[in-house]
Amino acid sequence: LNRVPVITIDGPSASGKGTVAHLVAKELGFHYLDSGALYRLVALKALQSGVMSTDEKKLALVAINLDVVFRDEEIYLEKKQVTEKIRTEECGNMASQLASYPAVREALISRQRAFRKLPGLVTDGRDMGSVIFPDALLKIFLTASPEVRAQRRYKQLIEKGLNANIAELQKDIQERDARDSKRGVAPLQKNADARLLDTTSLSILQAQNRVLEWFRECCADESV
Ligand code: CDP
Ligand code: CDP
Repeated sequence: LNRVPVITIDGPSASGKGTVAHLVAKELGFHYLDSGALYRLVALKALQSGVMSTDEKKLALVAINLDVVFRDEEIYLEKKQVTEKIRTEECGNMASQLASYPAVREALISRQRAFRKLPGLVTDGRDMGSVIFPDALLKIFLTASPEVRAQRRYKQLIEKGLNANIAELQKDIQERDARDSKRGVAPLQKNADARLLDTTSLSILQAQNRVLEWFRECCADESV
């Protein structure tokens, strides 16, 4: 029995799950795992080495051999800082394609579980509650309308000084939603044991507070 508490926040692209997960982890003093970053890192490495998005075997090898370090707020691939580099839509799209291969997902399982350390872990992705941490103390499915998600992503990219086109982002988000939900392994879906958090009209602070409230409820239930 693993006693290290885990909060999983799964949901579609640009819903705000990463932002909320990160803030909740800070508030609780817990570790944080951005599982999407792992898929984006495999994507970046594959793009750099010319591995095709259709080559499951080579992509799985890239995942197995991934030399990555998460330190403070930065992400390093082969000792080079790539924190921003993995955030492009190109990496996101490639990540979503290679994430549909069972061999790639399999290769990343133990890496993800290794983040479960005291005093606890908050993690976000697509299958954190369903596959990676099925015994999580609190599971959340965080979402928002596709329009609001496209606007959030647009604002985020513009603020970083990156190029963005709202119509293209909307199209990307729709394609990625469809691909992530329809794949055979670990599809994006709200499982029965996850609580739904629709943030379409919630601020970041409101969403964060809702998660913390739920977490306290779960802790109280555990100690009875
Ligand atoms: O930030 P955004 O929600 O757009 O994407 P992300 O969380 O960084 O993940 C990038 C891609 O990796 C997603 O489109 C998923 O296909 C894939 N992914 C996954 O399959 N399973 C996870 N636990 C996390 C990400
Ligand atoms: O991780 P995911 O792709 O789900 O989304 P994110 O990168 O955490 O959030 C996308 C953007 O939405 C960020 O710039 C957040 O600040 C913003 N956001 C928001 O405006 N309102 C919320 N309730 C949540 C996030």
